Amino acid sequence: MSIRTICCIGAGYVGGPTMAVIADRCPGIQVTVVDLNQARIDAWNDPDLSKLPVYEPGLDAVVGRCRGRNLHFSTAVEPAIAAADMVFLSVNTPTKTKGVGAGQASDLRWIEASARQVAACAQGHTIVVEKSTLPVRTAETVKAILSAAQDVLPGGGEPKSFAVLSNPEFLAEGTAIPDLESPDRVLIGGEDPQAIESLAGVYGQWVPQERILRTNLWSSELSKLTANAFLAQRISSINSIAALCEATGADVQEVAHAIGADNRIGSKFLKAGPGFGGSCFQKDILNLVYLCGYYGLHKVAAYWQSVVELNDWQQHRIARLVVQSLFGTLTGKRIAVLGFAFKADTNDTRETPAIRICQDLLEEGARLAIYDPKVVESQIAKDLSCSTDPDLWHCVPSPDQAVVGADAVLVLTEWSIFADLDWAHIASRMRHPAWVFDTRLIINQSAARAAGLNVWSVGIG
Ligand code: UDX
Ligand code: UDX
Repeated sequence: MSIRTICCIGAGYVGGPTMAVIADRCPGIQVTVVDLNQARIDAWNDPDLSKLPVYEPGLDAVVGRCRGRNLHFSTAVEPAIAAADMVFLSVNTPTKTKGVGAGQASDLRWIEASARQVAACAQGHTIVVEKSTLPVRTAETVKAILSAAQDVLPGGGEPKSFAVLSNPEFLAEGTAIPDLESPDRVLIGGEDPQAIESLAGVYGQWVPQERILRTNLWSSELSKLTANAFLAQRISSINSIAALCEATGADVQEVAHAIGADNRIGSKFLKAGPGFGGSCFQKDILNLVYLCGYYGLHKVAAYWQSVVELNDWQQHRIARLVVQSLFGTLTGKRIAVLGFAFKADTNDTRETPAIRICQDLLEEGARLAIYDPKVVESQIAKDLSCSTDPDLWHCVPSPDQAVVGADAVLVLTEWSIFADLDWAHIASRMRHPAWVFDTRLIINQSAARAAGLNVWSVGIG
């Protein structure tokens, strides 16, 4: 079946950019992205492309080309499902906060609600594609809901039928557009060869055939969790070695370069930092831990749990280091926090290490001036809900304003502008003795030292 209409439920960081690129590369397919959140849809439809709800380099140009042509954003969920040959489920799947599996398992209530909506509104044959990251065997739930609708045929109407596919997304935020335009691989899991080929036909319009992998449903779902667990594990591994480098006089960049030159290890994803953030890594590992526990594989669960524990430790370690360096107390001291997003080139703060580190510093009595080029103050206020007292923290519109009277500068996100800061000027505005803590190995260290600052860099002993 050749696909002519697509509906995507969920206009978030994944659904929005993914559908924009599909619409751009497949002019013959009408793509409608629906979401319950009216404000989000309005932002996707804003004539000013700098106001899109997701910041991704290159996304504005893609949306500008397709919106109104074959890319539409709407809150009218039911008609969009009814018109679709293929429905993507791209709703959020956060970690459960209560009940069975709280703190580990994914909360699938929105997946279930979306599946029920598809069951009720679809017409004819519909291919349902899981795009959200889901625990292994979720497709079974989706299938059960859809097949119940298949059984109850409304009198006289055209019978409904469904096929369920898993098609996890591997894009990274900040590079979503290039990741979608030339993916390392596209993974399609399913049981119905025709449905698989229909989806492969969509991607085949711009992705080389050899990069489109076909697996069974469960392998596809598990591959997504495993890919994220392996990536996160590399970061915890290099962060653990960073601490050892600091203790022994080694340089983690040299170690990373030396081990990365071995092509069995590879050079990517070996940057030491304040710990990983983002909506996926922690959630997916916790999911894996829950699954392993469920199947009685307690050693395996503990193994993956340790990746998250090391990440937590790294975040607290950095906050502790700041306290120790500033003579054991932060009460009344000012700290300039540069960067709040979980990585550069995104406005996303989900699970950003900045949250925990800032909370630890506030707990110690510090006053924070926070600068991030893309994260808005209202988001930071939500994230630091422990305190909204403007005396304790506030946002500033430039690094320059953040450093006035500061005892320390703490760089938490690798925004490229932080590579070119004028340290002589910054030092002149700080209170001395003054420190800079570079958790991303991004600043010009020698310039900072030459300006009379005490410099601490992650992984450098
Ligand atoms: C994605 C994936 O889908 C998730 O599985 C992965 O683990 C993280 O990335 P993301 O796009 O980042 O999620 O989530 P989010 O930006 O929260 O977008 C989800 C959207 O779905 C929201 O805009 C929400 O309003 C919408 N939604 C949710 C619906 O439209 N209907 C619902 O029933 C639930
Ligand atoms: C990740 C996966 O890369 C992507 O394939 C999946 O679809 C979603 O989850 P994302 O979370 O957007 O993507 O960003 P990523 O670039 O993977 O970074 C995650 C975190 O790891 C960030 O906090 C980043 O700063 C950190 N990181 C990454 C490091 O600390 N060191 C590195 O070498 C790489």
